[in-house]
Amino acid sequence: MARVCSVIATSHSPFLYTPSEEWEPGRTERLKRGGWSTDTPVDSVEENARKEARIKAAFGVLREHLEAAKPDVLLIFGDDQLEQFDFKNFPALSLYIGDAFEGYKISRMIGLPVMPGRKERPKTPETWVKVQSNPEFSHALIRELMTDGFDLAFSNELSDPDEGMGHAFMRPLYYLDPEYRLPMVPFSVNCYFGPQPTGKRCYQLGRAVRAAIERIPLDLNVAVIGSGGLWHLPNYPNSWIDESFDQQILAGIKSGDARKTAEYFDTVQLPYDPASKDSVKLASGGTGILLGVGGGTGETRNWIVAAAVADGQPGTVVDYIPVYASPIGVSFAYWDNP
Ligand SMILES: [Fe+2]
Repeated sequence: MARVCSVIATSHSPFLYTPSEEWEPGRTERLKRGGWSTDTPVDSVEENARKEARIKAAFGVLREHLEAAKPDVLLIFGDDQLEQFDFKNFPALSLYIGDAFEGYKISRMIGLPVMPGRKERPKTPETWVKVQSNPEFSHALIRELMTDGFDLAFSNELSDPDEGMGHAFMRPLYYLDPEYRLPMVPFSVNCYFGPQPTGKRCYQLGRAVRAAIERIPLDLNVAVIGSGGLWHLPNYPNSWIDESFDQQILAGIKSGDARKTAEYFDTVQLPYDPASKDSVKLASGGTGILLGVGGGTGETRNWIVAAAVADGQPGTVVDYIPVYASPIGVSFAYWDNP
């Protein structure tokens, strides 16, 4: 039978892939688009360099953890930000079940998306990669989950092959599997655009995924990765980091109680003005339908799914680093005995 050999959760902010000396210059550009809350600190060049080193060290810990687990396939929970799906048809939950896919390793744009003079990346071996999937596993997984009552959408190929697979799936491998050697099955969870699945549903999904994997009659080590978060609302006016939200989520990860983590998540609502169409539009990611936390913070759903796969096991938080130039609370965690 297949088995879960590793569970990991990681942020995937573009700041994790950009030299720290470029972090603060991006702030000027972002200010023009709404900017930060005035009480968001400005880190020195030296402090940002220390944070960059901690980020690299954290990815090193996760990479070692993953290598030690000897996975045969990666199942990555991430969110599509209008890369392959759009509002003509946006699935709440969708599994990629094709043979392979291509995509940019980090981003279509060089450096931070807000940096002046950004240029679209050419597709070269340094920037673009073909990734094998594992249809034998993904087909078995979707059958098991459908049988269990999860009515998943699926994709057999990318709808926009020129854009490539979304950043949430591609970026973690840049540090965790730099050769993009391991087959990967992307599982898309709508995190950004209301109405999104509740934390409770993400918890149920993670539990069901765990049980489904263990029913699949394939001799496979499956590593599960949750990609995104934690708190960041980059397009919000007066953007800020709610570090108490991040700490509550991380306390849940450390406790091993994924249900409670999901219940806390479902109590959170982004601030918005119901009388303002613009405010509702922003809080809903453009759909006008409000349900739960959206924006980058909504990617915390992918952590909840991962935590639920390892439910009952205390997770190890490798580090938590507020990157104020974004601003985002980035974090990294793994579960030892998933
Ligand atoms: Fe993202």
